[in-house]
Amino acid sequence: MPPKRLLSHYKLDAKRNRLITASCNAEDMLLPRSNFTFYEYDENFKLLQRQEFNIPDHLMIHDWAFTDTHYILFANRIKLDVIGSMTAICGLSPMISALSVNPSKSTSPIYLLPRFPEKSPSNRNWRVPVEAPSTMWLLHVGNAYEAKDVNGNLQIQIHACICSYQWFNFQKLFGYNWQNAKLDPSVMNVKEGGDELLPHLVQVSINLDADGTCQESSVEPLNQWSKPADFPVINPDFSGNKNKYVYAASSSGSRQTLPHFPFDMVVKLNLLDKSIHTWTVGARRFIGEPIFVPKGREEDDGYLLVVEYAVAIQRCYLVILNPKRIGKADALVARLEVPRHLNFPLGFHGFWVNGS
Ligand SMILES: [Fe+2]
Repeated sequence: MPPKRLLSHYKLDAKRNRLITASCNAEDMLLPRSNFTFYEYDENFKLLQRQEFNIPDHLMIHDWAFTDTHYILFANRIKLDVIGSMTAICGLSPMISALSVNPSKSTSPIYLLPRFPEKSPSNRNWRVPVEAPSTMWLLHVGNAYEAKDVNGNLQIQIHACICSYQWFNFQKLFGYNWQNAKLDPSVMNVKEGGDELLPHLVQVSINLDADGTCQESSVEPLNQWSKPADFPVINPDFSGNKNKYVYAASSSGSRQTLPHFPFDMVVKLNLLDKSIHTWTVGARRFIGEPIFVPKGREEDDGYLLVVEYAVAIQRCYLVILNPKRIGKADALVARLEVPRHLNFPLGFHGFWVNGS
């Protein structure tokens, strides 16, 4: 196992034209401390800076955020699972079964790590996390940004997808059973009344005073959209800056069975006027993660790519949507059939490359 493991989510800082990646130490998975290293590269992949942070807690970080002056880690807290560890060591189960979630705190620690400690020195001790109210497990971040007022108070906003510690299950994520290699998404759904456990979109707000002391932190549903959703994305040209739109995969809830997952809808949230528009795929068809391809100057000028999976015929389609037209009848730009040998149902975490 390599000594450092790259986190699967990386970020593009469009303002500085940088790629930012993060890694953790391989052994951290089993220890009550976590080491994170952040790397920033220019457009030629030249490493511009590297910073390491050690946090004395047992954490599982999958996604993270950045702002102009901070890297942000939501501390998903884990602990060793005794029986799972034994079966994993014996090779009877994957290493992930050695872990379980640790919901022992009623708050969610959020670490604000200084991105440029020399350029923007602060009295704040980054080892002390902000404690956001409620216990939330962070799945994915759409965007984060910050604004400083004339008195030096800093407000940080984070748009993210969270779920409950109760719902998150290392053994059965996405319903995949590693023992028989079968996918059963029913475990990603909940019985009536448990909707708040499911992945959903939130806005986390943090106010720091000029000394870096947290004055307030809050968590609220993004645009009051309470349907299950994940994979929040924005126009990457706005990453780290104040954004107006967030897109995500969501569930219409119209299916009698599997009402919450897999997702069957793309939702577009306008954070300024709080409007919500959706595009829904047909019956017995699911979608994966939306990917935004920018084009032009306006924030919603571009294409939204999403993979559609038609269950009945077991075929995938690459769906191209016009983000400006989501909610209108003509949002669909094209639907391209994916060759059968390239099928990838329930796809997520793709990227696009400009052909020119
Ligand atoms: Fe992810």
